[in-house]
Order: sequence, then C-alpha cells, then structure tokens
Amino acid sequence: MAILVTGGAGYIGSHTCVELLNAGYDIVVVDNLINSSSESLRRVKELTGKDFEFYPINLLHRQDLESVFRRHHIEAVIHLAGLKAVGESVSLPLRYYQNNISGSIVLCELMQEYGVRNMVFSSSATVYGTSESVPIGEHEPLGATNAYGRTKLMIEEIMRDLHVSDNRWSIALLRYFNPIGAHSSGRLGEDPNGIPNNLMPYITQVAVGKLKELQVYGNDYDTLDGSGVRDYIHVVDLAQGHLKALEKVLASSGVEAYNLGTGQGYSVLEMVAAFERVTGRHVPYRITSRRPGDIGVCYADPTKARRELGWVAQKGIDEMCLDSWRWQVVNPQGYLEENEIAANL
Ligand code: WQD
Repeated sequence: MAILVTGGAGYIGSHTCVELLNAGYDIVVVDNLINSSSESLRRVKELTGKDFEFYPINLLHRQDLESVFRRHHIEAVIHLAGLKAVGESVSLPLRYYQNNISGSIVLCELMQEYGVRNMVFSSSATVYGTSESVPIGEHEPLGATNAYGRTKLMIEEIMRDLHVSDNRWSIALLRYFNPIGAHSSGRLGEDPNGIPNNLMPYITQVAVGKLKELQVYGNDYDTLDGSGVRDYIHVVDLAQGHLKALEKVLASSGVEAYNLGTGQGYSVLEMVAAFERVTGRHVPYRITSRRPGDIGVCYADPTKARRELGWVAQKGIDEMCLDSWRWQVVNPQGYLEENEIAANL
C-alpha cells in the first residue's frame, strides 16, 4: 500500500516526503514540475536512503493520473499540488480555477473509482479572509479575498460534499499559516521563481546580497511596532502535521479542518531582528506602503490539532531563521545543479 503525494517535489511536498519515508511509509509522487524541480526528489532519496516512483504529470491529464492508480495500490492521498501565488491568482483567476479546482476534481474522481477515500488536503489560512479576530480557530467564519484563497475554500467544500455523498470518505483539511525554514541538512528548501513574494526568502536573498534591501510593507498596523504580524511555522513541523493527519484519516472517517500554526505571532520587524541575531547578517530594509490585500494580524489557535491529531509545532523562530539561512547559503541558485549553472553562464 502506498501514499500518493501530489505536488511532492515542491517546498512542502519534499519535506513531507522525507517525513513519510522516515516513518516507514511507501510513497508515490506526482508533480508537473511547474513550480518545482525533480532535483528536490533526488535529494529526498539521498537524505532518506529510500526509493520511490515519481511521475512528472499534470493532474488535469486524467489518463496519465489513472495509470498511477492502476500501477500502485494507493491507500491515501496527500494532495499538495496547486498554484499558490496570491498576486498571480488575482491577475490569472481562470488559470487558478482550472489548475487547482479541476485538477482536484480529476484526482477525487479517480480516488472514487479506485476506492481510495483517505485524503489529506493542503489548504491555507487564507480561507479565513480578513478575519481580524486572533488567535484564529477553525470555527471562525470563512471568506477568501482572492482567487487563490477561493480555490482552497471551494476545494474544502467539494471535499465536504464528497463525504455527504459517501460517508466512508476520511479527509483532513490542513490550513497552513506561514511555512518557512528548511531541512536542517541545507539540501531541501524554498526555491521561489524570480523575486520572492514571501517574507523569509526575500530576507535571505537580501542577507546574501542577491537583493538590495527588504521593503517592509507598512508600519501603520495596530501591532507592537506597526508592521504586519504572522504565525510562522517551520516547514518540518508542517510536514510532521501531515503525518499526524494521515494517521487520523487512516483510522477514521469524516471531514475535519485543522490549523497548522504555532499559535505565536511575530511582526516583520521582529523577524528581521531575529534573523540578524541568529545569523549575524545585516538585513537593510525600508518601510513602504502596505501591500494591497494584506491584513495586519494573523496567527493560529492550534489547539484542535493538538487535541485531535496529537500534533504541536516544536521548532522556534531561531531555528526557522537559521535553517532558512543555511538553505540560502548552501544553494545560492536554489535547485539549479552546478552543471546547469555552468551551462547558463
Ligand atoms: C508575511 C508578512 C507582509 C514580503 C502568503 C499567502 C498565504 C500563504 C503564505 C500560500 C506580511 C510582509 C512580505 C516582503 C513584507 N501562501 N512582507 N515584505 O502574505 O502572510 O501569506 O504566503 O498558501 O496564502 O497569502 O505571507 O510572506 O507574503 O508576508 O513586509 O517583501 O511579511 O506584509 O505582513 P502572507 P508573506
């Protein structure tokens, strides 16, 4: 029996594959490599000493995906594949609806056909929209404010309707807060295309001199120092949360949402200070205006995940900063291999 990991070559996916393999699961990975590199999977095999099948396919290509279900006895699916850039989703909504929602529907149709009803779905805290009541619990009202968030919200609803149609479905909806950090080996990490949208990869590229300075998007929020507050969670803690959710869905049925966050908020300026403290690097920054669509404060109430999954984030902000920095230093060009870099020169 194997666990199918969609999007397994990505930032969250590759770290989740490491934890699955180390826990003794057999896995099969599908990924269209639009936002990731197969090099990450080569390194997953190197780090774990384990082998697994990888299929570079797009979920929308039904026949390709069906061949995976035919070739492997799939016990559960960890569904991470999806486009995830908020800004891009605002300018290219149809691309996001097609890729994220239609791709998920093809996957669920094949799961139904092959009698696979155990699913861990990668959702996002973005489904809480502009909820300013913190800490955010799973009971808070949902309401996305961009196409990316709406795809996550709609897929959550599709999964709930699946369970209504057949109560044997067992589904965990994992609402990620802000994943940062990297595998302690420095061999896996976040490898954004082009200029990073997210805070931590931007900080590490400023610290290494690749970018000139960090723009702090507003210091007029109702927070300690005026800059935005978020719940940063180490990607390895997040990966562990997928294992706990997998155990739960394999042992029960029903649909449950879980916040995967630390429950601790840090401001942008606190993150800069922590990063400088633990790495000794200087991160020059400039205060600019707010980024459209940003909210001031967002952090989780993670007690439901602790109570029902037996999961609690273990790693603190220092380790998140250090692991992010190590990944940046060890892989200045991300997953581009030395020979590819040489070829690009
Ligand atoms: C964090 C804080 C910014 C960059 C997004 C998506 C969310 C999820 C995680 C997919 C905010 C500030 C950032 C910069 C800055 N993605 N910032 N300068 O916006 O909380 O969440 O990524 O699931 O869905 O919305 O993360 O890292 O972009 O921003 O000041 O150059 O850092 O204003 O306060 P965000 P982020």
